[in-house]
Amino acid sequence: MAKKIIGIVGSYRKNGMIDRLVTETLASAEALGAVTKKIYLTDVHIEFCNNCRYCTQKPGPEPGKCVHADDFNVILSEWQESDGLVIGSPVNFYNVTAVTRRFMERLVCFSYWPWGQHSPKMRSGNKDKKAVLITSSAMPSFMGRIFTGAPRALRLIATTMGAKPVKTIFAGLAAQEENPVPSEKAIRQARVAGRQLAGGQ
Ligand SMILES: Cc1cc2nc3c(=O)[nH]c(=O)nc-3n(C[C@H](O)[C@H](O)[C@H](O)COP(=O)(O)O)c2cc1C
Repeated sequence: MAKKIIGIVGSYRKNGMIDRLVTETLASAEALGAVTKKIYLTDVHIEFCNNCRYCTQKPGPEPGKCVHADDFNVILSEWQESDGLVIGSPVNFYNVTAVTRRFMERLVCFSYWPWGQHSPKMRSGNKDKKAVLITSSAMPSFMGRIFTGAPRALRLIATTMGAKPVKTIFAGLAAQEENPVPSEKAIRQARVAGRQLAGGQ
């Protein structure tokens, strides 16, 4: 059966570095028969987590229900039917963007954390889905990997959602031009990553 892959763009710029690399990854997965969907976090309605912890109170493997009725729940339903995730955010002020962070905080529903319990427990230890993490920065990628929190934040998003990161693509020097173009290397990495998600390698 065709793999279903969701791509989440946490950049503010359509056709910017992150968008292009997410698109390239998804296109490569599609070429191997995967069905893909791209979601721009700037285009969907996602409320801030208000820390009411309603969604964390009931035990069980499924994410808890949130008090907000918004697009997060739609994304969640789609994710539950998917096999892979591409999550991308540029580095802004040394970490992922605010829209990415807002999405991330809503993932608390993947944990069981009733009142009185010291810390959250992930509902499912299963990491049977795959994830590709994509980030970019003005600084060179070797510095970005050391000095920014973006790779770690993206990894946390993926693992919280029950996906095992199979590749991190870090596009450095991404702020030199108004319309940044991914390097040949980054495009090659995105294509390999897309094939990995589609089950090709
Ligand atoms: C508000 C803001 C903050 C930024 N902070 C950083 C930073 O801390 N470190 C860095 O290397 N680049 C920083 N950048 C550069 C962006 O990471 C770069 O423009 C982005 O990766 C390009 O991705 P995009 O084309 O998808 O927007 C910042 C850019 C903006 C607009």
